This record gives sequence, C-alpha cells and structure tokens, in this order.
Amino acid sequence: MDRHDLIKILLKELPWNIYWKTREGIYEGCNDRVAKILGLANAREIEGKNDVDLLGEELASLARANDKQVFETGVEQSFEEFGFDEHGEPCYYLTHKKPLFDVNGTVIGLVGISIDISDKKEIESLKVEKEVIQQKVQTLKVAAGSIAHELRTPLASIRFAIAGLKRYFPKLLSGYKKAVEAELIQSELIRKEHLASLETVVPRVEREIKYANEFINLMLANIRFENLTRDNYNTVELGSLLLEVLEDYPFNDGEIGVVNLAHEPSFRFWGHRSHMKNVLFNLLKNALFFIKRCDKGQIQIWCEPGEKVNKLYFKDTSQGMEEETISKIFEEFYSKRSEGTGLGLTFCQKVIESFNGTISVESVLGEYTCFCITLPVVTEPH
Ligand SMILES: Nc1ncnc2c1ncn2[C@@H]1O[C@H](COP(=O)(O)OP(=O)(O)O)[C@@H](O)[C@H]1O
Ligand SMILES: [Mg+2]
Repeated sequence: MDRHDLIKILLKELPWNIYWKTREGIYEGCNDRVAKILGLANAREIEGKNDVDLLGEELASLARANDKQVFETGVEQSFEEFGFDEHGEPCYYLTHKKPLFDVNGTVIGLVGISIDISDKKEIESLKVEKEVIQQKVQTLKVAAGSIAHELRTPLASIRFAIAGLKRYFPKLLSGYKKAVEAELIQSELIRKEHLASLETVVPRVEREIKYANEFINLMLANIRFENLTRDNYNTVELGSLLLEVLEDYPFNDGEIGVVNLAHEPSFRFWGHRSHMKNVLFNLLKNALFFIKRCDKGQIQIWCEPGEKVNKLYFKDTSQGMEEETISKIFEEFYSKRSEGTGLGLTFCQKVIESFNGTISVESVLGEYTCFCITLPVVTEPH
C-alpha cells in the first residue's frame, strides 16, 4: 500500500479527532471526525479557517491559550478542553498537542489529537460527590452518636434522684395524708386528683427513663455497629433471649398485649446476644409503630428449627408494604417515617450477616409483614 493511502486510511479509521494548524492558528487539515463535529461538509473545508471561525470567541481563546504553551515551550502537552460533540452536546476532550518543527527546529505549528472523555469525567465527579456525601453522613453519625451519648449522663442523674424519691416520697405522702386527717393542714393544699397522680409519678418517671435509655442504646447500636469484629461471638440460646427482649423492651401501655411469642420450639445460634437483642428491638419498634398508626394488628414470633438452618419468624398483621418499599427497606437511610432514620433494618441485616445468616421480608400491603431470619445450625464441638 502506498504511504499516502495508508495515512489517509489511518486518518479516516482512527477513533480520535485529529487536526493540524499553523503557529498563526490557521487550520491546514483534519480528519472526517473533526469535520463532522464542526459541522463542515468535508475535511477539506477546514483549510484556511481559524479557531474563532470554527469554535467562536470563547472556546477559541481557551484553545489558543493551550496552543501558546506548546508553541512557546516546544514541548508536547495534554489538556482537558471543553467543547461540543457531533450532536452539539457539551463535552470534555482530552487533547494532546504536539508541536511541528521546520528543518531549523523552529515551531511552525501543531498537530492535535483529542478524545471525548465526558463519560469518564462524569464518573469521576460522581465519585467525588459520593465521597463528599459519605463524609457528611459520617459527620452526622458522629453528631447523632454524641448527642445520644451526652443524654445518658443527665438521664443517669435523674435515675439516681428518682431512686431517692422512690424511697422517701411514699413516706412524705403518707405523712401529708395523716396531717390532713388530723386537720393539721388544710386538705385543699393539694387537690385530690393531683394527689392521686403524684402517687404514680415515680413509676411513670422510671418508665420514661427506661424508655429513653433503651432507645438511646438502640440508636447508638444502630449507628456504631461495624461488621468487622466478631469478637465475643458465641453460642446463644434464642428462646431465653426472646423472653429477655419482651421483659426489657420499654413497651407503652397495652403494647405488650399485641405480642404473641411461641415459646417452643427454640434453637441456638452462633452470634452475639446483645446485637441480636437490638435486632429484635428494631423489629418490635417498627411493628409497634405501624400497629399504632393503623390501629390494627398483632405480632407473632416463632422459631422453625431445620437440619442445616434454623429460622426465626417475626410477623405483624399491620400496614404491610408496597413492592417498591419491600425492595428498599434494607438500604441505609431508607425510611418512610418522618421521624425515621432508615438505619434500623440496615443494622439488622449487618448483624444477621455477621452471624453468617440472612434476613428477608415478605409482605402484602394492608395485610402483613413477615421477616424471616435464617441462621446456620450450630454444631457442637466433640
Ligand atoms: N413492620 C413493618 N411494616 C411496614 N413497614 C415497615 C415495617 N418495618 C419497616 N418498614 C418500612 O421500612 C422502612 C425502614 O425501616 P428502618 O430501617 O427500621 O428505618 P426507620 O424505622 O428509621 O424508618 C420504614 O420506614 C418502613 O417504611
Ligand atoms: Mg426502625
């Protein structure tokens, strides 16, 4: 093949935009790709035109600034240049500009080769955006964690004060009543209904403290769980843990009545007792929320031991979920509740996976939501 033809074929076939111009900025040639982008009928039409003719003032001045560097240094260089693609859409080019010399070594022009790197740029900017978001999320998690943590101290003081009140308050009350009976003080000093309410104040405050403490602990657990260490994992008996969960969960009035736990059968699993307790707290908290909101529903909890895996079912017959919700509930920060964080079920999944188990959900809108936790059967060491 003739050398000339080869160059022609190369110019036509290479997947790059190629052009060359004089030091004065006059184009002397280009390949078909460049002609197409510039909206020229063919490659020959570029001859004699300059950057302003082809690109307009603004883009021309940017291109000329880059050219100038190549002309003045005599060294080839790469640039990212803004421009338009063959459909007229804005894009980024990576352009390599190589100086052309005459026989005396004087720079007389340059040849430019460029490719569209918009896709890459987009991926990069998405990456940067993701990193920024992750940093913000991290900061928010730290902030939420420290708020929750800080609240523990005053709560501990209140609990301490309440312990004293619990001891002496009934004595003070009965002293007051006796003084009223003996007409030492007027009975209207404290109205009857206020007196009745005072009698239950201690257990009410105690319950509120327990409620706040349990949910602060749950919040901290949800935020801080890292699926890295499996230190202190061991065999846990689920039946007794379920009882402990129902014992310790800070139920509101009447809530415990909707929970039905099947005591038998039970199984043991390899994992972490308090992580599992927090998983069950999260499931209870969600189910109780929807039962309250919909004013209907019960909770059923039962185990199904198997040969290779054991299963724990957690079902509520409350709101149920739509298909779209079902597919997203384990995503971090996915929440359909205005006061939700979307961390609860993400935490549950991380914990169960750290036990080498799985958690899945089945739900019918308006009917039920059923979580199934699958855990490997524990084999006893001989
Ligand atoms: N028992 C349930 N019934 C119906 N929807 C539920 C139930 N549990 C979870 N969801 C849905 O999953 C979402 C995510 O739950 P979760 O990760 O615990 O976050 P949060 O409780 O902070 O919203 C909830 O906002 C809700 O839309
Ligand atoms: Mg939740």
